[in-house]
Amino acid sequence: MTQQIALYGKGGVGKTTLAANLSAALAEAGKSVMLVGCDLKSDTGILVHGRQEVATLLDYIRSGGAVKLSDLVVPGYRGIACVEVGDSLAEEECASRGIAKALQLLGEFDLTATLKPEFIIYDIPGEAGCSGLVSHLNLSLQLRTFIVTSGDLMSFYAANSYIRSVSRQFPASALDIIGNSLTGSFEESFVADFASQVNTRVSSLIPRSLVVRHSELYGKTVIEAAPESSHAQLYRKLARQVIEDRSVWQEPPKPLSVTELRGWAQGWGDRLGELEFGILKDGAGI
Ligand SMILES: Nc1ncnc2c1ncn2[C@@H]1O[C@H](COP(=O)(O)OP(=O)(O)O)[C@@H](O)[C@H]1O
Ligand SMILES: [Mg+2]
Repeated sequence: MTQQIALYGKGGVGKTTLAANLSAALAEAGKSVMLVGCDLKSDTGILVHGRQEVATLLDYIRSGGAVKLSDLVVPGYRGIACVEVGDSLAEEECASRGIAKALQLLGEFDLTATLKPEFIIYDIPGEAGCSGLVSHLNLSLQLRTFIVTSGDLMSFYAANSYIRSVSRQFPASALDIIGNSLTGSFEESFVADFASQVNTRVSSLIPRSLVVRHSELYGKTVIEAAPESSHAQLYRKLARQVIEDRSVWQEPPKPLSVTELRGWAQGWGDRLGELEFGILKDGAGI
């Protein structure tokens, strides 16, 4: 049975990089993978197929027959089938509505019927309003959600709201946190504590690394460009978790209220102050 995996998180947090590397690691392990990019930038498959411009689902809809349905599936590394939803249908329309329509159509065309992938990976854009897109995924298939966050406060805010909407709309979804682009043990602890505050667990903690940037500059995933690197191993470990369906999530997540999130962040501000400046909670220097 096909397993759906959706990656959510604030823009720039590393969803596309993760989606591409997870797809590559799954393909390397012999799994059939479809990678669906829902971002207006249509950039999800670039690291997998190396092409800068591909026909998107919305191009197909608008083309009146010039673009064929088969043109939409771009083969990439080890046979990964890449599909991009594309930019918004109408300029005046909010991006998330355009993408929602396209996702609905994707289901109607049922590109997966012929491909029958074992895994479909959705790279969900970070724009406001896109959290609701989960309701346009195929509800009859199993869904596993990864909420990606870095160690910065705004990405925790975004993660918290994604947790709220995904758990409301898709309560059966297994939901884990991935910490990405982390700059040290402080940020790792910050992410791990956030996960426990919202009653979820951490699936992976991925450090910030030049290997990721280096591979991106060559237009490739880390799995392909730096297969021996420690980051390639981290992506393979994530793929193994997905293959073995080891969800670490046990109970329903509990998103924080804004006040709770602010209070929690301030607690970490105190700790950071003590570490960096030697300032105790009451502001006294040590
Ligand atoms: N672990 C990492 N270490 C260093 N750079 C990273 C890491 N993960 C992602 N990046 C870089 O961060 C930038 C944004 O990543 P991207 O995947 O496009 O984010 P998103 O899809 O969430 O907007 C890219 O330049 C990417 O190479
Ligand atoms: Mg992206």
